[in-house]
Order: sequence, then structure tokens, then C-alpha cells
Amino acid sequence: MSLTAKVREHYSPAGLTDRIKSALGPEGQPLTVGQLAQLDQFHTRGILATTELAGAAGLDASNRVLDLGCGVGGPARYLAATFGCAVTGIDLSPDFIDAAIYLTARCELSDRVTFQVGDALHLPFGDGAFDAVFLQHVAMNIEDRASLYAELRRILAPGGRFATYDVVLRDGDVVYPVPWARDGSTSFLLSDGDTRAALEQAGFKATLWRDDTQTASDWFKGAMAGPPPSGPNLGLVMGPDFPAIVGNLGRNIRENRVGVLSAVLISH
Ligand SMILES: C[S@@+](CC[C@H](N)C(=O)[O-])C[C@H]1O[C@@H](n2cnc3c(N)ncnc32)[C@H](O)[C@@H]1O
Repeated sequence: MSLTAKVREHYSPAGLTDRIKSALGPEGQPLTVGQLAQLDQFHTRGILATTELAGAAGLDASNRVLDLGCGVGGPARYLAATFGCAVTGIDLSPDFIDAAIYLTARCELSDRVTFQVGDALHLPFGDGAFDAVFLQHVAMNIEDRASLYAELRRILAPGGRFATYDVVLRDGDVVYPVPWARDGSTSFLLSDGDTRAALEQAGFKATLWRDDTQTASDWFKGAMAGPPPSGPNLGLVMGPDFPAIVGNLGRNIRENRVGVLSAVLISH
């Protein structure tokens, strides 16, 4: 099986859209982005992190935004609803794209947010097609970072912004399974330094480079201390071992095996 197929298989929960439909109940009133935040923000610190990164990227309604590795589309819907911009979501997983399209219709945002299945290393867009690219908790699955960052620079207009929020390698062996991989065969973490070097090599210059590891660790401590979220949540997307998988990520962060990085860079 190819690496791409293995990653796609990891993110292929059978019957996801049907399970989301039953959990959300009857289609009446439009849903808000906030109502879905426990379900559709598939990264550490959820919508808080998306809000911070979007603020740092400085978007406006005229921007053409790509959310790469968009999952079930929560961040893409947040960007469109908050800034009024047009957002395209791309993801390897047909199941996630199907759910993303359904949830976007329920939020009445389909005129501004569109989705398609695709691979980050072979994007179906022309040069300079976007003003901003978001990449949240995706690079960990991509071995060939040089090609990833070169592809992002290609599809960004000159001066375009690349906003990323990712897990980085620190000083220990990762305890698996984690949300992005069941074992090390589909996990490709880089250190902060190697990530920055790869981005600079591809032609990006950082305007924000922030270590969010302590913030993430504090957030996990609070989340683990409280009851599990009520209502539709990421357990629907990640399956029954969701608590154990998320617990491992919290442990990896707490024990400094991995870190969490927020960055905004300009293509130059
Ligand atoms: C942990 S989820 C994050 C989803 C979303 N960015 C969010 O924060 O809600 C990682 C996502 O990256 C996608 N992904 C991984 N490798 C990819 C690739 N080569 N091309 C496109 N998407 C990819 C997966 O399918 C999955 O939806």
C-alpha cells in the first residue's frame, strides 16, 4: 500500500456523514460554526487555535483562502463566516470531504466554502491562485516537506500568507496511537528548526513563529480534568478509542516528546 493510501485509510471512518446526521438531528434551523466546534476542529485547542491563527494571518473578505488538509471543514467554515472570504478545502479523505460538504450546507455557507478531494503534494490549482493557505495539524502526515512547501509557494500569489499550526518533534519517542497516526509508519514530525529551514528554503519568511507547547499542555490538563464534551464531538470522527488517542497526544506534549508550533509566513 502506498504511503498516501495508508494516510487516507487512517482518516476513513466508515459511514461518517450518516453518523453526523443522526447525531445532529433534524435539519431545521441553520447551524452556527460555534455549535459545531466540538465536532469539526480536528486539532489541539480546537476553535481557540483557529481563531488565534486566523487573527495573526490578517484575512479580509477579498482573500482567496485554501484550507489544506481541511478535515471535516470546521476551520474553513470559521474563516468564511468570520472574515467573509471565499475558502476552498482540500483533503485526502473522501469521507471527510463528504461530511464537510454536508456540514457546510447545514451552516448555509456553501456559496463561500467549497471542498474537493486532493493531495497536498499535487494541488489542482494554477500558480498564484490563493492569497492565503491554512495548514493545521496536517504536515505531520507528509514526509516530503520540501515538495509540500514548494507546492504551497507555487499556488500562493506573491506576498501571500501561509498560516500553519502543527505538531513538531521534541526530545522523545512519540507514544502511539496519536490522532494523526496509529504508529510511526505515517508520522513524519520535524523539529521546529528543521521546519523553519525547510520553509525558508522554499522561499517563505516568518512574520510569526511561536512555540505554543505550554499553552497546549495547559489546555490538555483542563480538558482532561473536566467531563467529556456533551453533544456531537470529535469522537464521531476519530472512533471509539478517541479518549485514549487524545490522551496520548496530551502525554506526548506534557513529556516534551512533541511540541506545538504556530507560524505565519510570507511568500517572497
Ligand atoms: C488531524 S486532521 C486536521 C484537519 C483540519 N486541518 C482541522 O484542523 O480540523 C489531518 C487532516 O490532514 C489530511 N491530510 C493528511 N495528509 C494529506 C495530504 N497529503 N493531502 C491532503 N490532506 C491530507 C487528513 O486527511 C486529515 O483530514
